[in-house]
Amino acid sequence: MTSSEDALAHSTSDASLARSKARSAEIDLAIDEDPTRFRILTGDRPTGHLHLGHYFGTLRNRVLLQNRGVETWVLVADYQVITDRDGVGPIRERVLGLIADYIAAGIDPERSTIFNHSAVPALNQLMLPFLSLVTESELHRNPTVKAELEATNGRAMTGLMLTYPVHQAADILFCKANLVPVGQDQLPHLEQARLIAQRFDKRYGRANPEVPVFRRPEALLSEVPLLLGTDGMKMSKSRGNTIELGMTADETAKILKKAKTDAERTITYDPANRPEVANLLMLGCLASGQAPEAIAEQIGDKGAGTLKMFVTEALNEMLAPLREKRSELINNEDYLLQVLQLGNEKANEQANETLHEVRTAMKMNY
Ligand code: TRP
Repeated sequence: MTSSEDALAHSTSDASLARSKARSAEIDLAIDEDPTRFRILTGDRPTGHLHLGHYFGTLRNRVLLQNRGVETWVLVADYQVITDRDGVGPIRERVLGLIADYIAAGIDPERSTIFNHSAVPALNQLMLPFLSLVTESELHRNPTVKAELEATNGRAMTGLMLTYPVHQAADILFCKANLVPVGQDQLPHLEQARLIAQRFDKRYGRANPEVPVFRRPEALLSEVPLLLGTDGMKMSKSRGNTIELGMTADETAKILKKAKTDAERTITYDPANRPEVANLLMLGCLASGQAPEAIAEQIGDKGAGTLKMFVTEALNEMLAPLREKRSELINNEDYLLQVLQLGNEKANEQANETLHEVRTAMKMNY
C-alpha cells in the first residue's frame, strides 16, 4: 500500500478519529474568532422524508453554524439517489419536501445556498478528471462504500455506487468548501476528497503552488447522540421506526405509544442494559433540554406509559413551530422552486468558474 492508500483505509481508525475530534474542537474555536474563513458544504439524498435522526444528528447543527456566520451551502444530492436503487422514486415531492424541511428548521435561503446536483452540469463534469486521480482498488477499499453495499442485501454494486465518493468530492471541491460537518461514517469520503484535491494540484498545479486550485476540506465532527428507532433497532426509514419532522402531533403520539420498552416498571437511565428506555429518555432530553437521568428520576415508578407521554409532549412542543412553517411551505410550491432556482444559479456560477480553473490548469482551455 502506498501512503495515500493508507490514509483512506485508516481514516476511521481510533487514532485518526481522535485526531479528527481534536481538530474539530480547534475549528469550533476558529469559527468564533472569524466565521468568514469558512465555507460549509453539506447535503442529503432525497430518498425519503427527514426524521429526528437527521434533525438532531445534522440539521440542527447546520442551522447553528449558519447562524454563527459561516457561509453554508446545502446540496440536495439527487444524482446520489440512484446509487443503490432502481429509479428515482417520487423525486419531485421528495426534493420539495427536503427544501421545506431545511427552511422550516432554520436554513435561511437569503444567506445559505440550497441547490441540487442535476441542475449544476459543471459540478458533475468535475467527476471526469477526478476519476482519473483515483484507482479502482482504492475505490473498492473505501470502508463506507463497503458497509453501504453490505446494507443492500447482496445487490450488485453499481458503477455509481463505487464512484460516489468521487462525486461527493466534486460536491465539496467545486464550491471551494473547506468545512464539511459529517458523522464518523463519512470520514473516508472526506479523506478521499482531500486526496483528490492534493493529487489534482500535484499533477496540474498552477505555476505558483501557493495558490492551489482546490481548498483542502476538513471534517467538522459534532457530538451526536446515537438515536435508535422506536423499536430499539437502528433508525431507518425502511423499518418504519422513525419520527419524521413533517408528521402531525397525533402521528407522533401514535408511534411513541407503540415504542418498545422493557418489563421493568421503574424508569432508570441505563443505556447498556435498557437501550430502549434509554433511547426514549435521550429523545426526551433532546426535546426538553433536561438531562436523561433527571427525566428518569421524575418519572420513577410511574412507568413506560408516563415516559412515553412525557417524550411525546416534549417533542411535539419543540417541533410545533417547525411543523407549522413546514406545512405553510409545502403549500407554496412556487416559493420552494424559486429558492432552488436561485440556489442553482449561484451554484452554477461557482461551478462554471471552478471548471474554468480546472480546464486552465489542465491546459484544456483552447
Ligand atoms: N452522502 C450524503 C448522505 O447520504 C449526502 C451528500 C452528498 C453529502 N454529497 C455530499 C454530504 C457532500 C456531505 C458532503 O446524506
